[in-house]
Amino acid sequence: MKFASRTARIEPFYVMECAKAAAELARSPACRNEPMIYLNIGEPDFTAPPLVREAAERCLRDGRTQYTDALGLLPLRERISAWYAQRFGVDVPARRIVLTAGASGALQLACLALVEPGDEILMPDPSYPCNRHFVSAAEGRAVMLPSGPEQRFQLSATAVAQAWTERTRGVLLASPSNPTGTSIAPDEMKRIVEQVRARGGATIVDEIYLGLSYDEAFGVSALTQGDDIVTINSFSKYFNMTGWRLGWMVVPESMVAVVEKLAQNLYICPSTVAQHAALACFERESLAEYERRRAEFRARRDFLVPALNRLGLTVPVMPDGAFYAWADCSTFAPDSWDYAFDLMRRAHLAITPGRDFGQADTKRYLRLSYATALPQLEEAVTRLRRCL
Ligand SMILES: Cc1ncc(COP(=O)(O)O)c(C=O)c1O
Repeated sequence: MKFASRTARIEPFYVMECAKAAAELARSPACRNEPMIYLNIGEPDFTAPPLVREAAERCLRDGRTQYTDALGLLPLRERISAWYAQRFGVDVPARRIVLTAGASGALQLACLALVEPGDEILMPDPSYPCNRHFVSAAEGRAVMLPSGPEQRFQLSATAVAQAWTERTRGVLLASPSNPTGTSIAPDEMKRIVEQVRARGGATIVDEIYLGLSYDEAFGVSALTQGDDIVTINSFSKYFNMTGWRLGWMVVPESMVAVVEKLAQNLYICPSTVAQHAALACFERESLAEYERRRAEFRARRDFLVPALNRLGLTVPVMPDGAFYAWADCSTFAPDSWDYAFDLMRRAHLAITPGRDFGQADTKRYLRLSYATALPQLEEAVTRLRRCL
C-alpha cells in the first residue's frame, strides 16, 4: 500500500525501544532479586482523586454520555477560567477556552489553524518530540534552535530574532519544558512575545506542566503577556488524568470560531465523561489534594536533583516544574543512548536517553522522571552510586 509522504516525516519514538527492552528485562530472571525501577515514565504515579472518579461514575450511571459542544461544556470552561484567576491571577474569559482531546488534540488544532504548508515554526532543541511532528502533520517545518543550559534549555528573544526568516510563522514553546523541567523567565517570555508580535507571528506556549511549578518566579502563565498568545494545557499532568484524554487551549478571540470549525469536523467533541468528571477537579477537596501532590513532587525533586549532582550526573539547571531531571552523563559515557541501556542492564533502572528530544546536544543527556515514589528514587540513587 502507498502511504502519504507526511507519514515519512514523522519519526518513531526511539525511546520506545528502550522502554520495551526494560519491560522485557523486568520480566526476566535477572530482575527477580532486583526489580526494575522505572524512571522513564512521563505521567504522574497518582490517579484522579475520589471526587473526580465519583463524578465519572455518576455521569455514566445517569447516561449523560452524548456529544457536547465542540468547544466543550460551558460550566467546565467557566471553572477553568476561574482557576486561571485564582491560581495565576490572570483574567481568561471562558469563551476563549476550548476543551480538547488532551494537550495533543490542542496542539494539533493549533498547528492546523496556524501553519501553512512550508511555514517554519521555531522551537528549542531539546523539545517534546511530538511538537515537531504536529508541525510536520500540518505540512510545516519545525526549526529546532540549539538551546543550552545558559538559556535554561529554552529559546531566547535574541535567538528568535536571529533565526526569523520570511518563512517563519511563529514559535512553539513549552514552559516548564519536557524534557528539562525548566521554564522561560517571565521577562524573557515578554521579550520573545514582543519579537514575535513585531513580525506578525504567532506565539504558542504549551503550559501542560505549569500546574506543577515549584518556583513562584517561574510559575507565571504566558497569558499574562496579552490576549494574542495561544496556550495549551491539559488534565493529564497536574490533574493526574492522562488516560482520560482531556485538555484545553486558550486562543485569541478571533481564533475561537476557526478552532471550533476544525474541532467540529475533526473530533466532534472531547470525551463527555471526562468533561463531566473534570468539573470535580475544581472542588476544594480535589484542589487540596492536587496541591498536596505538587508538594510531594517538589520533595522528590529536592531529593533527586542534588543526589544526581553529587554522583556526577550533573543537572545543569535546577528544574522549576514538571517531574523531569535533565542530567548530563558525558563524564561517564559519550552517548546517553548506550549508557541508558548499560544502566538498565547493570542497575535495573529504566531511564530515557536524550535522543528523541532533539539533535543539538542530546547525546550528553538522560531524562530521569521523578513521577515515582520517594523510596524508589532513594533505591535508584543507591544503585547509581554502586554503578558509577
Ligand atoms: C510537553 C508536553 N506536551 C503535551 C503532552 C501531551 O499531553 P496530553 O496527555 O495532554 O495529550 C505531553 C505529554 O507527555 C508533554 O510532555
